[in-house]
Amino acid sequence: MKNSYSNIFAFNKKNLKKTIRSLNNGSIVGLPTETVYGLGGNAYSKNSIQKIFKIKKRPLTNPLIIHYFDIQSAIKDVEINKNFKKLYRKFCPGPITFILKKKPKSKVHTIASAQLDTLAVRFPKHKVIRAILKKINYPLAMPSANMSSKLSPVNSRDVCEEFKKKVKIILDGKQCKIGIESTVIDLTKHPKILRPGIIPKKLIEKILKSKIYYKSKNKKIVSPGMMKKHYSPGIPVLINQKKHDGKSAFIYIGNKYKDKKGFFTLSKKFDLKIAASNLYKTLRLIRKQGYKKIQISKIPCVGPGIAINDRIKRASKS
Ligand code: TXA
Ligand code: MG
Repeated sequence: MKNSYSNIFAFNKKNLKKTIRSLNNGSIVGLPTETVYGLGGNAYSKNSIQKIFKIKKRPLTNPLIIHYFDIQSAIKDVEINKNFKKLYRKFCPGPITFILKKKPKSKVHTIASAQLDTLAVRFPKHKVIRAILKKINYPLAMPSANMSSKLSPVNSRDVCEEFKKKVKIILDGKQCKIGIESTVIDLTKHPKILRPGIIPKKLIEKILKSKIYYKSKNKKIVSPGMMKKHYSPGIPVLINQKKHDGKSAFIYIGNKYKDKKGFFTLSKKFDLKIAASNLYKTLRLIRKQGYKKIQISKIPCVGPGIAINDRIKRASKS
């Protein structure tokens, strides 16, 4: 077991240099963000992007999020607009991804954007990813560091367990504070939430001073994160459960069942933000403990609860 995590590197000057060298050479690396860990590669390099799709077994029709240090670096690749500026000022760097029109001259390879004329851009806040983005002269294409349709990783060991030694460098950034993927908002027309996250729709509406759209029962798949089957822990997940069946793992919010065997709370104090941050961690833990099925009690569909419900609904489709 001694060397099973030998591709995880502590965040220090030497390893930062090593990681940047590796990215410059076209390799892909595991990196922390404040939401979930990502699998990053040079967004201007066809070779790096192909590697990302291959290792994740991700369909080429699913576009990647492109990560930038700041607005100045993104402006080369996307058309910015008023709504973007307002949200950028308020939330960036932070857990929000914007869909914008891609500039025809953009160097982001068309494979990364799945041949679309739009681009998903994000400005992550985590100090490790910011230290990297500051020192490289290209943006990073970076999906969550999990196999396509599986659980997103929230610490470096999760990434290692997902890809084993196929990823040579995973830079450690401790446990992700937010623990659930960024809010994705399409700003190419009337603003629309494509994927709910920790930044709620209501707050975005307040900043934009207008109502925005969010359709949870989308028939047409506009982005892969909206695919019905996603975020799968690999065992059956049942949602809106009222009663423990006596043998499955039972996830809930609050402290009603204290530390009773088989019961897993997402937040003892009923804090939905904390609950969201514990979701993937708890699903992984349950799987590791060998349970065959997961029951989840009803989670209130407000604030971060909307993002939790979105993820568990998809997890239950597998
Ligand atoms: O928090 C996050 O966003 C994490 C960290 C690593 O930054 N990344 C992440 O990437 O969740 P990924 O690939 O797992 O999810 C990207 C989402 C997908 O739902 C994808 O469909 C959507 O962004 N997306 C990317 N480009 C798009 C585009 N041009 N139009 C619509 N949706 C797009
Ligand atoms: Mg993902």
